[in-house]
Amino acid sequence: MTQVTNTVRFVLDGHIVEARGERRTTTVLDYLREQMHRTGTKEGCAEGDCGACVVMVGSLNDTATGVDYVAVNSCLQLLPTLDGKSVKTVESLQRADGTLHPVQQAMVSCHGSQCGFCTPGIVMSLVNLVQRNTNPDRQTINDTLSGNLCRCTGYKPIVDAAQHACQAGAALKIDDSADIALLKEIQRDTQPTLSLEGEIIVQPVVRTRKGNEFVSPATLAEVAHYLVEHPRATLLAGSTEIGLQVNKQFSRPEHIVYLGLVPELQRIDATAQGWRIGAAVSLERGEPKRRNTSAKSGYTGQKTNQLQPGEFIEAIELPKPAAGQVFRAHKVSKRFEQDISATCSAITYRLQGGKLSGVKLAYNGLAPAPCRAPKLEAVLEGKTPADVQVADLDAAIAASFTARDGLRATWAYRSLVARNLVLEFIEQ
Ligand SMILES: Cc1cc2nc3c(=O)[nH]c(=O)nc-3n(C[C@H](O)[C@H](O)[C@H](O)COP(=O)(O)OP(=O)(O)OC[C@H]3O[C@@H](n4cnc5c(N)ncnc54)[C@H](O)[C@@H]3O)c2cc1C
Ligand code: FES
Ligand code: FES
Repeated sequence: MTQVTNTVRFVLDGHIVEARGERRTTTVLDYLREQMHRTGTKEGCAEGDCGACVVMVGSLNDTATGVDYVAVNSCLQLLPTLDGKSVKTVESLQRADGTLHPVQQAMVSCHGSQCGFCTPGIVMSLVNLVQRNTNPDRQTINDTLSGNLCRCTGYKPIVDAAQHACQAGAALKIDDSADIALLKEIQRDTQPTLSLEGEIIVQPVVRTRKGNEFVSPATLAEVAHYLVEHPRATLLAGSTEIGLQVNKQFSRPEHIVYLGLVPELQRIDATAQGWRIGAAVSLERGEPKRRNTSAKSGYTGQKTNQLQPGEFIEAIELPKPAAGQVFRAHKVSKRFEQDISATCSAITYRLQGGKLSGVKLAYNGLAPAPCRAPKLEAVLEGKTPADVQVADLDAAIAASFTARDGLRATWAYRSLVARNLVLEFIEQ
């Protein structure tokens, strides 16, 4: 019999919190602020743009001897994803003797805060960084803060503070020793529960009186089994899309399947031919392996794809580039970090005897879904870069796409960028 439960258990600073009777779509931010009174964590945008809500979420490491953290925008994360994990908020940094964490102290000393609204989020992003890298270079600090907006201080004193804080060495580590035993106590099963008949039972983390569930399977077999029974269940990975739908469109999916605990979906396997990247691998982890995106994407239109009810993506397979194959990609957006692109493009080709060969060109932002541009490929194929004519590119763009102004840019702008990206690629 399926056990009905409505308790999310997580560790907060040396205590197990049992969150009972909460909605499956309650965000981590709302729970921390409204139920735990951790109001240091701020709500700025509630859509993943500003970073004022950043907290650290911890999981036991592979040897169960320590805690691995990720910094997350708590406004987009749903509370049941915390089940079996730990959380650190800016309040967690307060030490028994009342002193500040070195990152906080450096923010004071280097004048890294004015109105202070962004400060807890910035501090948490930096504290998360220094748990695994106590000597980051300036670029790493900039990348770490790419999701944190500060409207009034300016970033120089903040980055200076981060560098200054790193002089503290071992004192940068937060004391989470009390959390480890508790994390072991609440850790979720890593094997499926089986009925007496040997059938998989996917235990919900939350099951409402109406029978709507939030499940966190630990194996691929459980995901597949659950989707056979609930083919229209909503899959949840990083939550940057679903979290938005919940916050901004008040979406309340019937059943939610969280994929963050399935090790098979987190794997990156390299073969002689290419890479197989699990569907739940984050971009940050996958980045060193990124090469190309298939133009035969599964998209059929804006926010629609080929997946049938009950299907899910297990992994994507990327072929390794052949010798001499060039790959370039570029994203054009109003803001450098954390912004949805107006247009983006990727190209691959080889230069054979000085001529472009095997050209594949793909765009996003010019049509309702990402797509290849075969007419532009034909313009480029077999030409030397110097022979490519702007007029031919413009004609091919006009013949390939329906002119339409969009939310992020006009067609005049997009089509110009589309052409200039090709010129830049081949000039490179
Ligand atoms: C601040 C911000 C900036 C953004 N910038 C960009 C941008 O520049 N470019 C861009 O393309 N997007 C952008 N996005 C949108 C979002 O980040 C992407 O859509 C992202 O790929 C969603 O991945 P996720 O795992 O976080 O999403 P989730 O919300 O967990 O899932 C997204 C969708 O995929 C489905 N899904 C998840 N896992 C699977 C699976 N294994 N099989 C089948 N379906 C699955 C979910 O059901 C959901 O419909 C941005 C979002 C935010 C909040
Ligand atoms: S409140 Fe802005 S990112 Fe969460
Ligand atoms: S200090 Fe005001 S937004 Fe950063």
